[in-house]
Amino acid sequence: MAANWTPESWRSHEGLQMPEYKDAAALAAAEAQLGTYPPLVFAGEARNLKADLGKVVRGEAFLLQGGDCAESFAEFHPNNIRDTFRVLLQMAVVLTFASKLPVVKVGRMAGQFAKPRSAGTETIDGVELPSYRGDNVNDIAFTAEGREPNPQRMVQAYNQSAATLNLLRAFSAGGYANLHQVHRWTLDFMGRSPWAAKFEVMADRIGEALDFMKACGIDADSVPQLQGTNFYTSHEALLLPYEQALTRRDSLTNDWYALSAHMLWIGDRTRFEGSAHVEYLRGVDNPIGMKCGPSLEPDALLRLLDVLNPRREEGRMTLITRYGYDKIEAGLPKLVRAVQREGHPVIWSCDPMHGNVVKAANGYKTRPFERILAEVRGFFAVHRAEGSFGGGIHAEMTGQDVTECTGGAIAITDEGLADRYHTHCDPRLNAGQSLELAFLLAEMLNEELKERRAAA
Ligand code: PEP
Ligand code: CO
Repeated sequence: MAANWTPESWRSHEGLQMPEYKDAAALAAAEAQLGTYPPLVFAGEARNLKADLGKVVRGEAFLLQGGDCAESFAEFHPNNIRDTFRVLLQMAVVLTFASKLPVVKVGRMAGQFAKPRSAGTETIDGVELPSYRGDNVNDIAFTAEGREPNPQRMVQAYNQSAATLNLLRAFSAGGYANLHQVHRWTLDFMGRSPWAAKFEVMADRIGEALDFMKACGIDADSVPQLQGTNFYTSHEALLLPYEQALTRRDSLTNDWYALSAHMLWIGDRTRFEGSAHVEYLRGVDNPIGMKCGPSLEPDALLRLLDVLNPRREEGRMTLITRYGYDKIEAGLPKLVRAVQREGHPVIWSCDPMHGNVVKAANGYKTRPFERILAEVRGFFAVHRAEGSFGGGIHAEMTGQDVTECTGGAIAITDEGLADRYHTHCDPRLNAGQSLELAFLLAEMLNEELKERRAAA
């Protein structure tokens, strides 16, 4: 257990990106209410995820983490949950086939409600109000009342997370995740994609492999693993009053766990040494992620790893790099070398989203698909050169047919962004773009693994 740590020791550290609640009694009441609610996940599940992630550290599995930038109360609908889950499964099948490795599936779902912002306030037509910080803090509506942080929103976020997780558990265990079914959806998509020809060979080979297995008597009836899947949840551990209220001691091991999700990560703006967020996460036993952007120096990274993973457990730490397509090849090698030199066991995962935001001429915040791909390419190039394993992808995506990122097979233009731009925060890949990314990633991963195996 971490020394000198309690679920509230973060309170005496510098906590950025958290709201100031005007009504202290209302905040205390919401915290107390959440403190009596059941945990959303069980500590044993977090341990299972850590074991699965340990395989990724050793190059025996690949990590797929994805979902909304920000979940919202307004978009809470079973179809949205289903569609995002479905696309993640499709991506996982493509990646499993290409890599011949199990894919660990982690949603940015069932709890991703708090957002760090680059500015504390927003000004529209001369009116200045607090920035929107995610639905569990305040309202996206630009009114003084809406932007006031309201602690009861944490209770609503908890309830929405519980209902979302309940459906995800039903989908992953109840037959919806059947491998044959997932591949049929991909064939449907292939029928509509302008890039179908590019992906045809791989999709055909997946279909043949499934047919072959079936002929051998290996199908969902005979092998339960083909019927269901393990699916985990994650979000940024940003709103610490919420996280603290859901921090519990595991009755089996007596260790502390954050039980709002299986995995939590620290954002790029709050991962500085001595921060409240680092303090909180060092004491919980979950697998944790840390965003690594261009401002992170190798020495600071090593000190953070010593604080967050002093026992050097495999599967504890996932480093999620987010440099930008034009910075990754210059910036990432020094981190990789430092971590390798010190022998810290980490997963290297690529977030090709957060360093690649541009403003379109018409004012929309977007991400060009080409740049997202270029960062993924740069990521694999660096890991190949350094002899490390590029073991994961972290994407902001949705199962809906939104128009938020430009490019892709059905090339979304700057003008097209206005059609279905629904995100509450950053632009997401839509269902088609997500699957396209998986196919293109599969090709790169295939290359990477071929070289690794040849060298072994
Ligand atoms: C995010 O993942 O939504 C995010 C805000 O990322 P970062 O901390 O890397 O900027
Ligand atoms: Co985001």
